[in-house]
Amino acid sequence: MSNQINVDLKKVLGKTGVKVSPIGFGTLNIRDFINAEKAMLKAVEYGINIFEVSETYANGLALDYFGRFLAKIKREDVFIVFRASPLILADPDSFETKFNKFLQKMNTSYVDALMIGWYEDAIPLETQLTSLERAAERGYAKFIGVSGFKVKQIARVLNMPKKYEISLIQNRYNVMDKRIEKDVLPFAMKNNIAVLACSALDGGQAIRQPVVMRIASKYNATGAQIALSYVISNPNVVALVKSENIDHVVEDVTASKTVLKEEDLSALRSM
Ligand SMILES: NC(=O)c1ccc[n+]([C@@H]2O[C@H](COP(=O)([O-])OP(=O)(O)OC[C@H]3O[C@@H](n4cnc5c(N)ncnc54)[C@H](OP(=O)(O)O)[C@@H]3O)[C@@H](O)[C@H]2O)c1
Repeated sequence: MSNQINVDLKKVLGKTGVKVSPIGFGTLNIRDFINAEKAMLKAVEYGINIFEVSETYANGLALDYFGRFLAKIKREDVFIVFRASPLILADPDSFETKFNKFLQKMNTSYVDALMIGWYEDAIPLETQLTSLERAAERGYAKFIGVSGFKVKQIARVLNMPKKYEISLIQNRYNVMDKRIEKDVLPFAMKNNIAVLACSALDGGQAIRQPVVMRIASKYNATGAQIALSYVISNPNVVALVKSENIDHVVEDVTASKTVLKEEDLSALRSM
């Protein structure tokens, strides 16, 4: 029997039109790269097809790790989100050279989405955008986006003259930190921009919350599954989790099978 989760559970990633799994995996804070690789390969077996990486993770070692992982699967089967530091986006020429090296490390000739990693006032946004667009023009990135931006800052980028649309935003979002529900989420929905929810388990804290645990027992699910189900209950959101434990990965990737009733969503919303 195939381990694949039902493909119908996949989501369209906003205006990119690309279908991805509702849960994806990030590569920040990995302690044991060997276990993490096994865990990510297990996730792929279950139909997980979105992964996030950055040159800032583990002082660049996450890229080598990701390259080893990518060499074991089919490149076209996964959607890679790359979160670049604004510091390296400050000069489009040197960024192109650096980004080529990152791609080599990752064993690929392109990423699917390239993002400004965080809002950095000291570096002109126009220049950072030029770096992203240069990568897109050269075929090193298919889509562009921003990470950790507030609504005002996203709106600023949307209003800038540019050749490529902003198709994705990444923000911290989990049952413990629902700040984006007030502004970024409705704004993204209105503009058909996909939201990648990072730290979707609040670094593991979310699964131990009493409300989460109470609801988990109702559904015969785990705390992680309930916390993730809440995050992905919004059709525009894909959850990014980190796990280097195969059992946890299997739990996380099957979270999308739990569809929460409105009364439970409401209890999680107000906790
Ligand atoms: N854009 C940004 O600024 C930004 C910031 C933070 C994170 N991110 C992205 O979001 C990803 C996830 O965020 P995060 O690293 O903060 O953490 P997270 O996914 O919220 O939580 C990870 C923690 O939860 C544990 N865990 C995962 N599944 C579990 C399960 N089923 N049962 C019990 N424990 C479980 C993991 O341990 P095990 O490994 O032992 O399973 C780990 O300790 C990152 O890897 C990164 O890609 C982006």
